[in-house]
Amino acid sequence: MTYMVVTSRCPVTHENTGGRDVVKNNVGGVATALRQVMKQEGGVWVCWGDGNLDHEHEEEDFEGYKIIRIALTQKERRGFYEDYSNGTLWPLFHYFRERIKQTSNGFSVYQEVNHKFAEKIRKYIEPGTTIWIHDYQLALVPKILKDSGIANLIIFTWHIPWVAREFFSILPNASEIADGIASADIITFHTELYKKNFRESCENLLGVERNLDDKLFSYSLGIDDEYFRKAHAKPLGIDLRDNQKLIFSLDRLDYTKGLVNRALAIESLLKMFPDDIRKFVYVMIVTPSRTSVPEYAEMKKQLEMTVGRINGAYSDLSWQPIIYLYRKISDSQLISYYRTADIALITPLIDGLNLVSKEFVAASDHGILILSEFAGSIFNLPHALRANPNDVEGTASRIHKAMHMEKDEAMLRLGSMKTSVTRRNLKWWLSKITEIADRKQMEMKVSRDSRTDTE
Ligand code: G6P
Repeated sequence: MTYMVVTSRCPVTHENTGGRDVVKNNVGGVATALRQVMKQEGGVWVCWGDGNLDHEHEEEDFEGYKIIRIALTQKERRGFYEDYSNGTLWPLFHYFRERIKQTSNGFSVYQEVNHKFAEKIRKYIEPGTTIWIHDYQLALVPKILKDSGIANLIIFTWHIPWVAREFFSILPNASEIADGIASADIITFHTELYKKNFRESCENLLGVERNLDDKLFSYSLGIDDEYFRKAHAKPLGIDLRDNQKLIFSLDRLDYTKGLVNRALAIESLLKMFPDDIRKFVYVMIVTPSRTSVPEYAEMKKQLEMTVGRINGAYSDLSWQPIIYLYRKISDSQLISYYRTADIALITPLIDGLNLVSKEFVAASDHGILILSEFAGSIFNLPHALRANPNDVEGTASRIHKAMHMEKDEAMLRLGSMKTSVTRRNLKWWLSKITEIADRKQMEMKVSRDSRTDTE
């Protein structure tokens, strides 16, 4: 099957760094996972090029596929990316009601940019190619394409949570968003719950006669487990003494990730279990994200004040509880953390899936995963230690439990999680999507042929 993948974020951007054109990897689960798919499958990837040299690379042959970049003006960037996608839709779909921004022209610019994506798709699409559109930034594109008479199969994959229908209907343009996605031929989610919420939202807003049952699927995105198992890891260079445990996390800086609550859980651990003082080091890696959205800058301050206060209260000259790193790390450093960490502390307040939890399981040979019950990946990793990130003291107890868990129990849990990560890996995910796409394409062909016969 040949795919044209369409996302807001490109796999890489070109940045002018000290006068040189430097290619930078983009962070975020969607771009990372689809990059693996495209490396294997080839095809075309249409996306928004927001790097300051991306305009010089409108078309680029890259690692076996072609990237087609769309340029946005400042006004489009603000209305589409900052205001509507990340100011309105992102908080809405993560249940942050008080953060939902209503701007006067956010939705109309979002519509314009979705049209711009559709135009680019039409320009480059070939007969027989499957158009595979991703995520909340591009919800209107399937309907725009269908209305323009495009006959290609359209798949839409939603990567974030889909909220309960009564929460979704808070959104003034809820019907347009639902209708935009419902126009695709195949719609996939990462969990059954999000799929069910979407179906109910559509029934509520578009009417029950719009039967979506044969288009909705739930397949949880997997990872390239073999890569994480086999990739070479350099020693981390961290000085752990007297059997200190290394606790680790990696997240984009985002209010959905529960970073402040997580730091507070470390503080509670130190208060509730004073014997654990100096028995661990928590490396909290936070990757810069959406820095142009005001809420993200605010949240950085709040996190840094909390981490600073906790370290100020508990550190001494030879130990500090939280090592906070605010930067992107390389793939090889990431693997080293996965391999060395004794505990991965992944406690988002809510997360569509969370690939880091799966990657850690694949790469580690001894680690314990503490995972939020509000991460989509909890459905695939039931043997993780479950934590409710809103319960700071409960999370502290989970960390204490992980620090003192018997090796046998830790290995049993890890073993069964490894089995599910391997069974439902990236290849499995792609094969499921390809299987339904093949079936749908066949059905569409049969119905086209029978229409021609009757004409
Ligand atoms: C999440 C979203 C993606 C998005 C990524 C990074 O994983 O589901 O669609 O690309 O965050 O966010 P950004 O705003 O940098 O694209």
